[in-house]
Amino acid sequence: METVLSGIRPTGNLHLGNYFGAVKSFVKMQDEYNCYFFIADWHSLTTHPKPENIRQSTRTILAEYLACGIDPEKAAIYVQSDLKQVLELYLYFNMNAYLGELERVTSFKEKVRKQPDNVNAGLLTYPTLMAADILIHRADKVPVGKDQEQNMEMARLFARRFNRIYEVEYFKEPESFHFNHKAVKVPGLDGSGKMGKSEGNAIYLVDDEKTIQKKVMRAVTDSGPTVPNQEKPDPIQNLFTLMELVSTPDTYNYFNDKYNACEIRYGDMKKQLAQDINAFCAPIRERILAIQGDDDYLLKVAKLGAEKAEASAEKTLREVRQIIGFRV
Ligand code: TRP
Repeated sequence: METVLSGIRPTGNLHLGNYFGAVKSFVKMQDEYNCYFFIADWHSLTTHPKPENIRQSTRTILAEYLACGIDPEKAAIYVQSDLKQVLELYLYFNMNAYLGELERVTSFKEKVRKQPDNVNAGLLTYPTLMAADILIHRADKVPVGKDQEQNMEMARLFARRFNRIYEVEYFKEPESFHFNHKAVKVPGLDGSGKMGKSEGNAIYLVDDEKTIQKKVMRAVTDSGPTVPNQEKPDPIQNLFTLMELVSTPDTYNYFNDKYNACEIRYGDMKKQLAQDINAFCAPIRERILAIQGDDDYLLKVAKLGAEKAEASAEKTLREVRQIIGFRV
């Protein structure tokens, strides 16, 4: 069975974009692959040396993953900082990673611009830590967005380089895995890009009914179509895309027909959309709240995940030490 690994930095609550873009697919993948889902809390230190609520943010993602249906019995769901073995592999990769190539990574250059007073070595070696995350389990496939492509290329480079230097065929090059359904791109509510890209355009899985209503009613629209069957401008198309995800086909078709006949009332459509988003989120939200309040359960899940991850990591490290020539 192929191994899939995904990492997420604990930077806030999951929104509908995360759900339809990735988490929903993770739930399916747990039955088809050997899955590792981890929360990249160490990576947060590259930008936040004194993370304020790192424990809380980590628990939040954990609870939200579980509420969405990620099953700790099927997948290994763990916290990066619980898997110390990653650090040793990180060290080995760092020994064969060169300043020039690390400095050329786009996200590093961006961070240098954004935080010129904190250009730390962790930031520079972000790609080697990420490669260690992936290769510690010798993952075959890594679901990532486009913004992670360069980090994935670095992971493949470090895998190849390790093999070349130590004259082995040990690490496979991990593949980027792009979900190939159109639901990946969940639009935001501000009429521009993807959900989550900017403040206020996302609906979070924990948002309550009122919040959802308020956000949807505020979504950008226009003055309405004037020509039958005209193409929908982005902000309008976005509302329809969301509706396609959470509403019934009948509801979608009803408003689509209204649009095509130039009879649409955006207020009505938004009311319906808010209602359907709420109906979709409500059971997930209830599970999130219940799980978040259950410390014992969260602890148990994290421990089980760490144990599973450790078993696989230990095996890799044993072999890596042997390859490099350390005593085992
Ligand atoms: N860099 C990823 C992000 O910003 C998070 C991450 C860390 C990751 N380690 C990983 C993703 C390993 C996939 C595999 O979202």
